[in-house]
Amino acid sequence: MGRIPYKLFVTFVMLGTSLAVASPQNLNMFNPVSPAATPIRDLFFLVFGVIGVIFLITEGALILSIFKFRSTGKETKEPPQMYGSNPIELAWTVVPVLIVFVLFLVTTRSIYSLDMQEPPEGALRVKATGHQWWWEFEYEDLGITTAGELHVPKGVPVFVELRSADVIHSFWVPRLAGKIDCIPNRENHMWFQADEIGTWYGQCAEFCGTQHAKMLIRVISEDKKDFDSWATNQLLPAVEVPTPMNGKDTFLSLACINCHTVQGVTHQGGFGPDLTHLMSRDTIASGAAENTPENLTKWLLNPNSIKDGCLMPNMMLTENQVASLVEFLTTLK
Ligand code: CUA
Repeated sequence: MGRIPYKLFVTFVMLGTSLAVASPQNLNMFNPVSPAATPIRDLFFLVFGVIGVIFLITEGALILSIFKFRSTGKETKEPPQMYGSNPIELAWTVVPVLIVFVLFLVTTRSIYSLDMQEPPEGALRVKATGHQWWWEFEYEDLGITTAGELHVPKGVPVFVELRSADVIHSFWVPRLAGKIDCIPNRENHMWFQADEIGTWYGQCAEFCGTQHAKMLIRVISEDKKDFDSWATNQLLPAVEVPTPMNGKDTFLSLACINCHTVQGVTHQGGFGPDLTHLMSRDTIASGAAENTPENLTKWLLNPNSIKDGCLMPNMMLTENQVASLVEFLTTLK
């Protein structure tokens, strides 16, 4: 009887440890770098410890009984039967109630300590919108719109307003904060503060359609100085670089402009990601592929080859058109 729970327990612990130790993508929630993630980790360990002790006591008693009171096959009559014991029944009612009550109080305290209704003094405000299947980040105070990659200054609280453009998504960067859903026609919010410089990976945590798995988030925390220079560059309109194949004219002549904005060139499209500073991003398609001319070419020839089912249609472009577009896109530094 005790074997299956025991195996489950061992599998769980092994899975947890391997995730914790080998997390190449920096997804380890047990190693927070933000004061918004630390209470979640602490609460997890507390609850895990309490239930672990309960598990050991109950399983211990079970296994002990199995071996100590096992039938020898020679008994001639039933062992003495016992009905009702006030002290025992009181104990196994009161003790669990107390445990549940304590866990309830600690959990409530953690939830309240993390819930922030208004941005704190000096916070950076960001509006994050989940789309099928990419993230849009707007820094309204700074006038910046970007996609897929969220730059933040180190050590500064970031207040995130979460929305959805279509279905329910969930914003989760495990080392920075807990997960909060993005719900259509509703605004949720959360906060985090990256106390170290680095790239923190995240993932849409609510199934939202075919490409849910490729709806990645990168939070890049950097020194104030680097963040400011990134922000300054983002505020510039797209660079005007005449290219041999007239890439910009190709871009303007095709349906691209119906969905994509390039500040200074065209600003009617809001359905797809803003491309003004496309080349300042490490990845395309919300982390699905590295941002290289080869991948851009592959993407434009057939977006489905990188992200099956994605909402950017295959525009049936010729190889020349694609080459010309890539030439233009790679000037968008
Ligand atoms: Cu968006 Cu899952």
